[in-house]
Amino acid sequence: MEEKLKQIQQDYLNKINSSKSLKELDTIFIDLFGKNGEVDLLSHQFKNLPKDELKTVGPLFNQIKQELEKAINDKRLTINELIYKALENETLDIKGGKIKDRKGHMHPLTAFEEQTAKIFNKLGFVQIDAPLIDTDHNNFEVLNIPENHPARDLWDTLYIDQKSKIKNQKLLLRTHTSNSQIRALKSSKPPIRLMNIGRCFRYEAVDARHEHTFEQFEIIYVDKKVSMANLQYLSEYFLKAIFGEDIKARLKPKYYPFVEPGVGVDGLCIFCKGKGCKVCGGIGWLELAGAGMIHPNVLRAGGIDPKEYSGIAWGFGPARMAMIKYGIEDIRVFNSGDLKLYENK
Ligand code: FA5
Repeated sequence: MEEKLKQIQQDYLNKINSSKSLKELDTIFIDLFGKNGEVDLLSHQFKNLPKDELKTVGPLFNQIKQELEKAINDKRLTINELIYKALENETLDIKGGKIKDRKGHMHPLTAFEEQTAKIFNKLGFVQIDAPLIDTDHNNFEVLNIPENHPARDLWDTLYIDQKSKIKNQKLLLRTHTSNSQIRALKSSKPPIRLMNIGRCFRYEAVDARHEHTFEQFEIIYVDKKVSMANLQYLSEYFLKAIFGEDIKARLKPKYYPFVEPGVGVDGLCIFCKGKGCKVCGGIGWLELAGAGMIHPNVLRAGGIDPKEYSGIAWGFGPARMAMIKYGIEDIRVFNSGDLKLYENK
């Protein structure tokens, strides 16, 4: 037994000395002191030893056990020191290699709207705000669209389940930027040159050219002797500034309760060159705006005498215009978050 103990002592001291990692030391420790390890198995044999032998073997066993345990702990400290030294000399490259250059740019609609605002700023138009959640009165009634008027079907929207604190009126998500008209007329005296750009909402059956959430751009111009000729001129000026001299546009008669006369402004569909396709709904033209001479009732509601002043108003759809400008076949892509929209625009 004594010899066996000394053999184990020698073998394991050699193993401990030649070990190079903490993991190796852990394995040695378990082989020695774990369940069914060398120490465990030896201690089970003591019960069969004669008492005399046990007197010498017992203390030797404890001494070897402690010696091996200490040898393992000392080696652990040595290995740890080596690890710390190696870490001291190590550097971390936080750049992590070359990162691919990625250039970002504005959402095409934002860029388009900024360009539009600049064009009209130059002509003396100033931007005003109008709320996205507004009263039924500002969005419909004051624009000659009373409750139960059939034209409401064209602009059906989402209603807020709560009344406005002022006058307890019905609240809704505005269907057009024309809700800015009454504010523009009430807040200033002619000559009025104001514009409003922003989000509108409709209860819409969405398709390639209709979104439920989209932008509009409204122009309100009131002065003495403003006429359809001004509207025609400003439409052409705007469309040429955006699309270039070759843009083909037309004005067609269109009914809006808050203008008289009313027109639709169409741009030739670039996808089919006027032949008719799914983007333009087979018409050959894409409707870009509704416009007209501001109705006398609306002017009066804004405190402006229609006998003295006249005005024009416009509601353009920037997304429809951006579709033509950038050759985008489906309006839904603008709100989709699809990164392809940001390539080469
Ligand atoms: C109006 O919203 C009127 N407020 C425009 C107006 C203003 C008329 C001032 C007279 C005076 P309309 O619903 O036609 O009209 O919309 C105007 C433009 O907004 C359309 O020509 C189109 O470019 C855009 N538009 C309308 N509905 C959608 C939609 N669902 N998705 C995307 N663009 C739309």
